[in-house]
Amino acid sequence: MNHCAIILAAGKGTRMKSEIHKVLHKVCGKEMINHVVDNIEKAGIDDIHVVVGSLVEEVKKGIKKYDVTYHLQEEQLGTGHAVMCARKALEGKEGTVVILVGDGPMITESMLKELLEYHNEHDYKATVITSEFHEPRKYGRIVRAENRDLEKIVEFRDCTEDEKKIKEINSGMYCFDIKVLVEHIDKLSNDNSQKEYYLTDMIEILKSEGYKTGAFIVENELITAVNSREELAIAEKIMRNRINRKHFENGVTIINPDNTYIGVDVEIGRDTIIYPGVILEGNTKIGNNCIIYSNCRIKDSIIKNNITIDNSVILDSSIESNTTIGPFAYIRPESHIGENVKVGDFVEIKKSSIGDGTKISHLTYVGDAKVGKKCNFGCGTVVSNYDGTKKHITEIGDNAFIGCNTNLVSPVKVEDNTYIAAGSTITDTVPEGALAVARARQVNKENWVNNKGLKK
Ligand code: UD1
Ligand code: CA
Repeated sequence: MNHCAIILAAGKGTRMKSEIHKVLHKVCGKEMINHVVDNIEKAGIDDIHVVVGSLVEEVKKGIKKYDVTYHLQEEQLGTGHAVMCARKALEGKEGTVVILVGDGPMITESMLKELLEYHNEHDYKATVITSEFHEPRKYGRIVRAENRDLEKIVEFRDCTEDEKKIKEINSGMYCFDIKVLVEHIDKLSNDNSQKEYYLTDMIEILKSEGYKTGAFIVENELITAVNSREELAIAEKIMRNRINRKHFENGVTIINPDNTYIGVDVEIGRDTIIYPGVILEGNTKIGNNCIIYSNCRIKDSIIKNNITIDNSVILDSSIESNTTIGPFAYIRPESHIGENVKVGDFVEIKKSSIGDGTKISHLTYVGDAKVGKKCNFGCGTVVSNYDGTKKHITEIGDNAFIGCNTNLVSPVKVEDNTYIAAGSTITDTVPEGALAVARARQVNKENWVNNKGLKK
């Protein structure tokens, strides 16, 4: 049996009041549409189609998966019309199509799997995902027959007063038997209050043709749709709780889950403790027994085990076990920090590798450098990697002791087992075993103060 998925994402979403397409707004660090695409993929469906209409190029660029197929709906004439525009996705195929919306990021892999199971078990030709709300607002209403069978879906605007009282609503997400949908989709009409082709009408159409249709009831939060900034914040909160719960179950301590921001794809190991105000983004992986203190932002980085990070920013880098970072360190992209390293306060590291056991304790900049093992950087060391036009590489061997306030003017090499005197400006290779002193000698002008008549 083949499954495919269609995501409706043609409407820009005017209620967001945004220059950005609605489906590209982020929930817990990931674009809504990518939440949908990723969960479809996780549920085992890789034939994915997206109906686009406004800001087409932006939407295409924003979708991370490269092999989705796009279908253009030039004019937004309704959800049924959107599916008609994706007809090529379905023709000649057999199996089930899942139809989802780009602004419904809360769906999960397990919900989709259960939906498909339910749909196939009951041999339905159409199954709509529904949910029961205390306040069903303006959602389409699910009308059931006396025997509780699904009868039809009525848009809120077209509801009678009695129908408005129904608590079960349409999520706007469905699955259909592909052949049956293709055969009957042209029967949709736009004879309604909005003059739109409603996909919801397919239920009544298929019923009248004698096909079995059903409703799959899920929890409210799974079908939360985002139409406004307020709903975006609501979705963010639901998703944040869901993410935190997963980490609790894996043995992670989050001291204040309400103000800790962990992206959906972040992994965290057992016994790691996350303090308030931490932001973990992208494909970050954190190992076991780490302590991440407040005000850390870590993006697309790999943090191994037993690492302490305090008030620091780490981007697109990797850190080996037993290292400490911060407070107030800035690790910029493409850096690799070894084991048992200390990166202390006000240290910036950019596109550099730092060998095991090296200490860079305070007030230091290291850029475009390869640093060996067990080196010691004195306070105020600066790697001068930029000459105003080009960036240059600095190589530092193992066991180099770099005195305070040293400038290393790149390109330059400091070999193994060397010392550099404090205040040196190093422009030439420091050979193995050497002490380099590169500064003017001190001159004392005796009695200078008296002679100038400056004595207090
Ligand atoms: C739809 C349902 C309603 C349901 C609600 C749930 C219909 C007729 N109504 O209403 O029963 O309760 O979702 O949120 O289906 N889209 C297109 N092309 C179009 C129109 C819409 O691609 O021509 C896309 C939108 O970009 C959006 C999705 O379909 O992602 C839903 O459209 P929207 O206009 O928000 O539908 P609702 O009026 O909310
Ligand atoms: Ca909507």
